[in-house]
Amino acid sequence: HVAPLQDRFGRRIDYLRLSLTDRCDLRCSYCRPREFDGYAEPDTWLTFDEIERVVAAFSRMGAGRIRLTGGEPLLRNNLVGLVGRLSSLPGIRDLSLSTNATQLAKHAQSLKAAGLARINVSLDSLDRACVRAVSGRDSLDAAMAGIMAGKAAGLTPIKINMVAMRGINEHEIERMAAFCFEHDFILRLIEAMPIGEAGRNTAYLPLDEVRQRLVKRFGLVPSSVELGGGPARYWESADGRGRVGFITPISQHFCATCNRVRLSVDGTLYLCLGQEERYELRPLLRAGVDDAGLDAAIRAAIELKPHSHDFIAAPEKIIRFMSQTGG
Ligand code: GTP
Ligand code: 5AD
Ligand code: SF4
Repeated sequence: HVAPLQDRFGRRIDYLRLSLTDRCDLRCSYCRPREFDGYAEPDTWLTFDEIERVVAAFSRMGAGRIRLTGGEPLLRNNLVGLVGRLSSLPGIRDLSLSTNATQLAKHAQSLKAAGLARINVSLDSLDRACVRAVSGRDSLDAAMAGIMAGKAAGLTPIKINMVAMRGINEHEIERMAAFCFEHDFILRLIEAMPIGEAGRNTAYLPLDEVRQRLVKRFGLVPSSVELGGGPARYWESADGRGRVGFITPISQHFCATCNRVRLSVDGTLYLCLGQEERYELRPLLRAGVDDAGLDAAIRAAIELKPHSHDFIAAPEKIIRFMSQTGG
């Protein structure tokens, strides 16, 4: 019997998020990752063997919820192969992918067959010009094809992540909700976080006022369903069919119930999205650490997990970009 992971504040850590690449084919204004420049992998990137060892260790210690993210994870070589390896590890109970869906149409079926359970898709608007302005590319059609392929492949429930930005896409929110309700997707509205210069320069929209709008329009009421393992608070439409999740790191943070840590593409474990505490796992892995040593290192890392982010008091603090830690 292995004791579950728990931090100094009594929070159970059961969710590991893996950034599989820091590159992306889109240039979203709030994120600004490295440009996709091919599949060549620097030797600082963890190999699939190394990733599998870390995931197995977390899973042994009760953290069997795994999210694959980036950058754009579908731009990692042979992602399907990695999904196959991770999904067959003992103790994995929720293997999911956060993606912009532009590359999903061609991979959805094989990802499902390899054991991926579900996807969360970033999409900030249904308006072609607005998508182009935010993502820097004419990506709406490709993303839409990917989303529908994901649905057809059964990568469900599908969540649509929309970063709500004052003056940019705030007028699109009702339309997005109606679209999601119609297709049985869960809309999630996200407050922009000041992560890196790109995040800091994004006009945040407090979601309180948006929720009031949606209550009026769709009769939303608080929902008690549990959907995934994340920080969203869910509301549902009067007929119980449509759901909206609110992710409010700025106006009402959720650090007290935080259950996650993040592994960067080069093997750094970040203990909080909004703090610098970290622990380097790559040197240990490459020095041939055994399983007991790896478990002990992860427990030591979890001890460093801070109480909460500092986005309000110190918005300048996080200079790394979102794609480094994983969105
Ligand atoms: P589910 O398991 O489906 O609930 O996923 P999730 O909401 O945890 O993951 P997703 O990758 O879809 O993240 C949605 C948004 O929530 C992103 O903008 C994340 O950056 C943000 N987010 C996720 N986890 C945290 C967190 O621990 N702290 C903060 N501040 N934001 C987070
Ligand atoms: N603030 C809030 N959310 C962000 N994301 C990327 N950058 C930011 C930011 N600065 C979101 C993406 C994606 C999710 C994984 O992270 O929209 O849906
Ligand atoms: Fe957890 Fe840090 Fe996110 Fe707060 S900001 S929920 S402590 S990762």
